[in-house]
Amino acid sequence: MTAAPVDPTSTSAWARLASLAEGFSPDLRAWFDQDPGRVERLTRTAGDLRVDLSKSLVDDDVLAALLDLAEEIGLAARREAMFRGERINVTEDRAVLHTALRLPRDTPADRRPTLDGQDVVADVHEVLDRVYAFADRVRSGDWTGVTGERVRTVVNIGIGGSDLGPVMAYEALAAYRQEGLECRFISNIDPTDAATTLAGLDPATTLFIVSSKTFGTLETLTNARLCRQWLLDGLRERGDLTDEPGERAAVVQHFVAVSTALDKVADFGIDPDNAFGFWDWVGGRYSLDSAIGTSLAIAIGPERFAELLAGFHAMDEHFRTAPAADNVPLLMGLLNVWYTDFLGAETHAVLPYSQLLHRFPAYLQQLTMESNGKGVRWDGSPVTTETGEVFWGEPGTNGQHAFYQLLHQGTRLVPADFVAFANPAYPLADGEEDVHELFLANFLAQTRALAFGKTADEVRAEGTEESIVPARVFTGNRPTTSIIAPDLTPSVLGQLVALYEHITFTQGVVWGIDSFDQWGVELGKQLAQQVGPALAGDADALAEQDASTRALIAYYQEHRRR
Ligand code: F6P
Repeated sequence: MTAAPVDPTSTSAWARLASLAEGFSPDLRAWFDQDPGRVERLTRTAGDLRVDLSKSLVDDDVLAALLDLAEEIGLAARREAMFRGERINVTEDRAVLHTALRLPRDTPADRRPTLDGQDVVADVHEVLDRVYAFADRVRSGDWTGVTGERVRTVVNIGIGGSDLGPVMAYEALAAYRQEGLECRFISNIDPTDAATTLAGLDPATTLFIVSSKTFGTLETLTNARLCRQWLLDGLRERGDLTDEPGERAAVVQHFVAVSTALDKVADFGIDPDNAFGFWDWVGGRYSLDSAIGTSLAIAIGPERFAELLAGFHAMDEHFRTAPAADNVPLLMGLLNVWYTDFLGAETHAVLPYSQLLHRFPAYLQQLTMESNGKGVRWDGSPVTTETGEVFWGEPGTNGQHAFYQLLHQGTRLVPADFVAFANPAYPLADGEEDVHELFLANFLAQTRALAFGKTADEVRAEGTEESIVPARVFTGNRPTTSIIAPDLTPSVLGQLVALYEHITFTQGVVWGIDSFDQWGVELGKQLAQQVGPALAGDADALAEQDASTRALIAYYQEHRRR
């Protein structure tokens, strides 16, 4: 039985934070002027990541109280329980062992979690070996479609955690992809997604990976059926299919699956030998580094995928072993609690200065919001504080010309994480203009402007007419964290993802919530099953709907064209 959550508001650290927050008037200009050691004192290293917290809205007292809060909450014990494989996902009665997905094969016995007597690390590596062997076959052309042609396009069919991780990482690691082998991703049940993704593809050279933890998700199974139909129709049109055994063989050659429910895979026509498993102790949003990453393993190859896992593991070790005051995920999680519960922040921006990370904010939205968007604690009692912030973001510099206005001069407090790399993903050609340097100048300029702003006197000194001065003042004191690494490598990507997993964990533990269930998505799924027949004209189902839904259905029925 897991221990009851400590109510954070009952701790003495919370009371101290509340009194520090009262009348808190951060002044980053003064703090930097008066304290030459601030940057050094508030910069940490975790793996390859240098994390500069100096532009955060914290002073030493706040930081000390946050660390005390972690202590009083019992964060270290809960973290240990997670790494050990205790069933900390209380409402689903499951262990939470995504960190085991990246444990090295030769992890010593005292660090190998076992579940019901089973060696989890051995299981993980058995599946990894199969994924790697399969990836190698596809990459080398040894795995062919039913006509004997090699695979040119891999289409991952999945949604949520079975899509966002693979697509984010595939984009992020574009520089590491094998040439002539493309991945595409279908997630939305909007049929436009499948139609536009499949457009222009040759069925004979297309391989589908049906990725679904449960193998019961409506979107994924519907899209998988659409894709199967597209494959068979396309092959038939080319004259490559003539009979039913041929159709079955085509599905076997062109469809593989990733799931925890391997028993359901065969019903779809997929050969269980071509299915890669994972386990109920891996949450969907924590599954990129399981077999769910098969499309990525094909794109970047087993060696690079192993580097990604090593990066995850390096951050896990940092989170598990670094002292609290140096522990980056812990500090960043605690800072988020400070912003959310004491300074009234409602959202949190993630702003990668890397175009290749353009899906990173979307990935983090599921990770953070499906994990911590909850109003009850793991013992069923209501939370006693505000919980999960709204995560959002876009890569710089695009965001600068869209929403940064609000970050700089709006009335809301929006803590922001900036992520940047010293080197461009693709090396500069000889004599090429160093646009990456210009790009980095923007990252530095933005974090500086947000922190230090521009005073009325400085505006006036530029000769600005007095009536315009207020509109051109920047108050500053807008908190940012700068995360910088040498390069966006597979390992660094793994470190980044694990960093945010553990930030999310830290916040969840402080708030006392189960960050690993997601009951909040269930009601909509159930209601969709009820509304479906009403849309199709079933009078009884229609009568069960509320007045607004009935009116919208009437509109649909009036306007649909078939
Ligand atoms: O949205 C709910 C959810 O269960 C996510 O947590 C999960 O990542 C997604 O659906 C997809 O589920 P599955 O992998 O089982 O198809």
